[in-house]
Amino acid sequence: MNKETTKDIPDSSTVYKGVTVTLQNLTKEFVDKKGKVTVAVNDFSVTIPAGKLVGLLGPSGCGKSTTLYMICGLHKPDAGAILFDDEDVTNTPPEKRGIGMVFQNYALYPHMTVKQNIMFPLENLRVPHKEALVRAQKLAELVHIGDLMDRKPNQLSGGQQQRVAIARALVKEPRVLLLDEPLSNLDARLRLQTREEIRRIQKETGITTIFVTHDQEEAMSISDEIIVMNEGIKQQIGHPQDVYEEPVNLFVAKFLGNPQINIVPGILAGGKCLLENGEVIDSGINQPDQEVLFGMRPEYLKLSKQGKILATVDLVEHIGRDTMLICVLHGLNLKVRAIIPSEYRFAPGDEVRFECSKLFVFNKTTGERYK
Ligand SMILES: Nc1ncnc2c1ncn2[C@@H]1O[C@H](COP(=O)(O)OP(=O)(O)OP(=O)(O)O)[C@@H](O)[C@H]1O
Ligand SMILES: [Mg+2]
Repeated sequence: MNKETTKDIPDSSTVYKGVTVTLQNLTKEFVDKKGKVTVAVNDFSVTIPAGKLVGLLGPSGCGKSTTLYMICGLHKPDAGAILFDDEDVTNTPPEKRGIGMVFQNYALYPHMTVKQNIMFPLENLRVPHKEALVRAQKLAELVHIGDLMDRKPNQLSGGQQQRVAIARALVKEPRVLLLDEPLSNLDARLRLQTREEIRRIQKETGITTIFVTHDQEEAMSISDEIIVMNEGIKQQIGHPQDVYEEPVNLFVAKFLGNPQINIVPGILAGGKCLLENGEVIDSGINQPDQEVLFGMRPEYLKLSKQGKILATVDLVEHIGRDTMLICVLHGLNLKVRAIIPSEYRFAPGDEVRFECSKLFVFNKTTGERYK
């Protein structure tokens, strides 16, 4: 083996070590045949800490895959830079970046066995066959498919195929693992199982991992941090619970949470929140008087005899441990959802009073959240 090749291949005893991934003002535009420009990723800056699993989250078409393609080098950014630790990799060819990627439609080679699929990237790197075998077996065991090595992809379940794709991405011992909707083809139960598996593998290997999904619950449950993106623009990054509890704007508040946050129009006057039906809630927000939008998460609406938010029950849904009340706010022809303990029994037509334990206030035009 020549020197050049040896340098490219991490030794099989290498301990995985994640790098810090820094994206600086990344921008990517696409121009279609008619000359129409789509800004897929717009001035996107973020730091992804070494060894963490970060969920990249946003609606379809918001630029998630494009961001991953730029990190792995398949798309060249129009502007901005990509750093792995202090190394600028913006112009480094994909095969020299040390990336493992599982694509949105994780294609395995159908004519190859599991073993051949996993070993394929190593053959490209001209790793000696014996060593490649050892490494493939090690990875297969890590993802719990060690006993399926001689099967072809069509003899595997969806979840097993997914794990082969993950093993194939890991076999080069990458510095960064990119997973683009790796669970999209799985049924609900397998999805849950596989996402826990991904979490375990990521923890065991310590590879910096970016996990793309449009499923907010999935992202919230396995990520150390989440990045919420919309229309190519980063909205917020943080610990999942922090982003949920302290959204920076209306988009993030609405995107996270199921059932969705209740949005109610009202007025901010002298630091007090006036709902349009005349109810008043203190806010402590120091902003000029203006029309605003209030956000109340369903679990923040608490039943209370002194509550200032009056409503009539429209529908009662039992959702396991809790009950969801769908109510019409008095004075506003507007429905809100409240999650209450299941011991309360209500029927349509009942009058209820709520207190809102936490109220978000948003600028009506920009969606910015006032604090
Ligand atoms: N090769 C391309 N040529 C032209 N436009 C593209 C190309 N790739 C992506 N786009 C556009 O860029 C935007 C972002 O696409 P991208 O695939 O990054 O979205 P996404 O967030 O991954 O969506 P999804 O959740 O549906 O996979 C979309 O408007 C898309 O149509
Ligand atoms: Mg995509």
